[in-house]
Order: sequence, then C-alpha cells, then structure tokens
Amino acid sequence: MFNFEKLDDGPAKNISTEVTADMVKISLKSDPSKYCIMPQKFVDQDLERIKNMEIFEDDIWIVTYPKCGTTWTQEMIWMIHNNLDYETSSKVQLADRFPFLEWSGIIKNFTIDTFEDCKTRPRPRYIKSHLPLFLLPDQLWTVKPKIIYVARNPKDTVVSWFHHHTHLHCYNGTKEDLIEAFLTDLMLYSPMNDHVLDFWKIRDQPNILFLFFEDMKRNLDQEVKRAVKFLDKNFSQEEIDKLCKHLSFESVKDNKMINKNEEIRMIKESIGVKFDPNAFSFVRKGQVGGYKKELTAKENEMLDEYSKWPTFEEFGFEYRF
Ligand code: A3P
Repeated sequence: MFNFEKLDDGPAKNISTEVTADMVKISLKSDPSKYCIMPQKFVDQDLERIKNMEIFEDDIWIVTYPKCGTTWTQEMIWMIHNNLDYETSSKVQLADRFPFLEWSGIIKNFTIDTFEDCKTRPRPRYIKSHLPLFLLPDQLWTVKPKIIYVARNPKDTVVSWFHHHTHLHCYNGTKEDLIEAFLTDLMLYSPMNDHVLDFWKIRDQPNILFLFFEDMKRNLDQEVKRAVKFLDKNFSQEEIDKLCKHLSFESVKDNKMINKNEEIRMIKESIGVKFDPNAFSFVRKGQVGGYKKELTAKENEMLDEYSKWPTFEEFGFEYRF
C-alpha cells in the first residue's frame, strides 16, 4: 500500500534532531503525490496498527496539522463533552484525558506505548492525532465517530512550529532551515496544505466539525457554540461565558493541567536534557498575525506563495489571516 523513502540528506535531515530522528517519506503506492513525512520509528511500530485500529462510534477525535491550536481545542471539546466537569479537568492532565495517538512513534527514545493506551481507553475514547487523513484508521470512514479538525494560517503555524522544534525537539538550527523544510513539504507531518485540504473536502459530513484557530481567537463564544451543537449539548449563556474564560489564553497559560510542562519534561529527559519550566511556555503568544514580528520580508513572501496554493481555489478554501 505504501512506498518508503529515507530522507538522509536535504531539508528534512537539516532539521532532524535526537528527539525526532530518521525521517521517512511515506507515500501511497496508488497515488505517490499523497505523502507524509514521519520518523522511521512510526513506520516500524505504528503505521500498520493505526491503519487497522478498531474505531467506536462514540469516539471523539481531534485531528490537526501540528501547532494549529490542538491543545486549546482538546480542552474545549473535552469540557463540552463532559458537561463542563471543572472538577476533573482541574485534577487530571489534559494529556491523560485526551491522549496523543502516535506520540510514542515520533519521539525516538520513548518506551511508553501511546497507541496501546489510546486503544484500550474506556469509552468514550478521546483521541488526538496529527496524522493526515490517508494515514488515519480506515474504520474512521465507515464507523464515522465525531472528528474535530482545526486549521490555522501557515505563517503563524510555521513560526509556532519553529519554537516547538527549538524548545521541545532541542533543534538548534536556524529558522531559515526550518522554513525551507516546511515550504518544501519535507518536515514532520508535512505537507500541511494537503493535510488541511483533505479535511476541508469532507467538512460538510455530519460527523466532521471544521474549525479555524483564527475564528476561535476572534469569536470564541461563537465557535464554542458550534462545538456545543456538534456534540449535542445544551448550555446556558452563563455556562458558555464561564467556559470561554476557562479557555482564554491567560487562563490556559497558567493552567498546569493544560500547559504541557509535564510533556515537555518527558521529551527533554528522553535525551538527557534537564527541563527548565521557566525557559519556554508551550502556550506561547496565541496570536493571529504574530508572524509579522518574526518573519523577514522574504520569508513572508515565500509563505504567501504557499498560502495561495492553486488547488485551494478549486475547493473554495482560504486560510484566515
Ligand atoms: P503560538 O506558538 O503561536 O503561541 P498546538 O496545541 O496545536 O501545538 O498549538 C499551539 C499553539 O496554540 C501555540 O501558538 C499556543 O500559544 C496556542 N494556544 C494554546 N492555547 C491557546 C489559547 N487559549 N488561546 C490562544 N492560543 C492558544
């Protein structure tokens, strides 16, 4: 079903680190233009078992290209689906309430098994994944559980990805090298455009909720209400106001159950690097257009081209900036 090409040099190799090493281009034999960049460890341990994973109709999935607001949306969806259970959410890490399916397949030295954890969770299972549509379990498309997809403009996404690589993956290369890997669609989970477009094409199916980071930023109340309706819940305006406050940037940044310090510690310690909670905040800037301060004019122009991918027009897709 798949072809595999090791990426031993070039942009992928330039940004690969001890944390996520040995990148491979996984492409569909039937359509080689459909591909994704993942570590060899994922290919060896996860690819097949994820494709064949049993799916239940009461599963709740969140799928995104990395850095598009996954964590924020996970908290929103978990809270809504659990009838605003602030007590549990204040005691249990979001990563335990809403685990990351292929996490142990991308972090080289992890000995935990996040696939097995997700698979055996009590129902309803809450599952986060960054995999593109064609690598997700086949049964998702027949059993049709609820799937929430989140997109974000590529400029803010790649800036956020750069900080993620630097502080979580211990990348000490340049921003330019990372942007080159992103633009040539040769970095972890790339290509982003295909990732987003594949879900955009199916956004009208009743089990899909397609969200934009920018819409959540500009009108969280409205996007929360869309999610409430999608999950067949009903809350008062007062309850929604309280949830929006709980989901605000300031609140999430200070919330130790959401802000991922624990995960960053695990990643750093997997390669023997000491974790310093003051060195980096995963909930970093949370802005729309923050890229303007962090990209050069040339990088901005190159990303303009990327964001105006011709195929998007055909499908009526436009990134929000
Ligand atoms: P920045 O790095 O641009 O600040 P993911 O969870 O997919 O990795 O996405 C991380 C991005 O979501 C980060 O973007 C982070 O700051 C942002 N984010 C997390 N919680 C947020 C919130 N409550 N409001 C706005 N942005 C948030």
